[in-house]
Amino acid sequence: MSDFQRKMCDILNFGALNLAMAIGYKHGIFEAMDAIGDYAPVDTISRKSGLDPRYIREWLGVMATGGIVEISWREEISRGHEISGKDEISRGQAREELYRLPEEHAALLTRGAGAANLGVYTQEIPLLTCCAMDAVEKGFKSGEGIPFSFYPSFQSFMSQISNAKHRDVLVDKFLPQVDGGRILAGLEKGIRVCDIGCGEGVALNLMAQSFPKSGFTGIDNDPDAIETARNSTRDMGLGNVAYLIEDAALVGEMDDFKNRFDYITAFDAIHDQTRPLETLKGIRKMLANPGVFSMVDINAGSSHHDNIHHPMGPFLYTVSLMHCMPVGLGEDGRGSGLGMMWGRERALELLGEAGFTHVDILEMAHDGFNVHYQCKLNF
Ligand SMILES: C[S@@+](CC[C@H](N)C(=O)[O-])C[C@H]1O[C@@H](n2cnc3c(N)ncnc32)[C@H](O)[C@@H]1O
Repeated sequence: MSDFQRKMCDILNFGALNLAMAIGYKHGIFEAMDAIGDYAPVDTISRKSGLDPRYIREWLGVMATGGIVEISWREEISRGHEISGKDEISRGQAREELYRLPEEHAALLTRGAGAANLGVYTQEIPLLTCCAMDAVEKGFKSGEGIPFSFYPSFQSFMSQISNAKHRDVLVDKFLPQVDGGRILAGLEKGIRVCDIGCGEGVALNLMAQSFPKSGFTGIDNDPDAIETARNSTRDMGLGNVAYLIEDAALVGEMDDFKNRFDYITAFDAIHDQTRPLETLKGIRKMLANPGVFSMVDINAGSSHHDNIHHPMGPFLYTVSLMHCMPVGLGEDGRGSGLGMMWGRERALELLGEAGFTHVDILEMAHDGFNVHYQCKLNF
């Protein structure tokens, strides 16, 4: 087999594995196997997960041949079951196969893994394929973009990612690093904070809960996401958060918002905008002086050449192709269509054009996917 033939086999196998893992993740099979904690037969895994044994068996075939779960067996003999470990077994004897999710795999595949959870990302490509395959194929010919409404389940998926990412790190690790701890001190005393492209409000609600003396405003143009954010605020009993359905490219022009916020955040939101420059200019206008804007966005270079050794290059460019770039183009195809891999050089260019002249690019030990563009006024 040539190197490229082997690579093609890997591509086909890993693509298939991703699809099956996404189904397993969604149905909590990894959690069920983690809870079992040892080799178990199909029936036990089926009972623990509450799922059909025939489907579980086929799924375990993917997981075992793909090296996600380990396999063993026990002989089925007349006086009952006896574990035979990994020894050879003679032909004709019945044997029951047993499966185990190793602890070190569970630590990256289950919801309990928190910020280390990579399992959640297996859902991304299958989800985007369901939402947008036809529209993206059409876009290749027409150049048109795709509206956000094509991705109905996307916001809840983003919330899962935000949950996984933010719950463990936002308040304890990320915020203490902003502006050398000055933002954290301000949050404790009471400042005004705005999150642009807040989605379902996971990050903002977490901050509002931790800093009751500060006031928080979330802005997103997706009404469903804002409704979910407001419901969570109510469920959490928070009185210091407001959510607005607004176009981020226009809010900077609202008189009430000029110089209003001491701290503004945008988590993974700027590259999805159809008018990112107007949004950044608006943020500049909304920021008080002194003030800090934290733009957390993908950690990449701006050219394909720069990203050739990016460990997640094909994955991230595919997510961009299936979602970020077409939504950024807008329905008429006239938006900027930055795409998720717009990269540092382009980001610095737009931030500079928007009036952010002092920008620190900070790597985040807890989040290898993203980088923190810390933009300060009156530094
Ligand atoms: C990738 S999601 C990130 C959501 C959230 N910040 C998080 O980390 O979970 C991008 C968000 O930007 C929002 N968005 C896109 N264009 C927008 C616009 N013009 N005005 C306001 N929000 C926008 C989308 O609705 C979406 O919620």
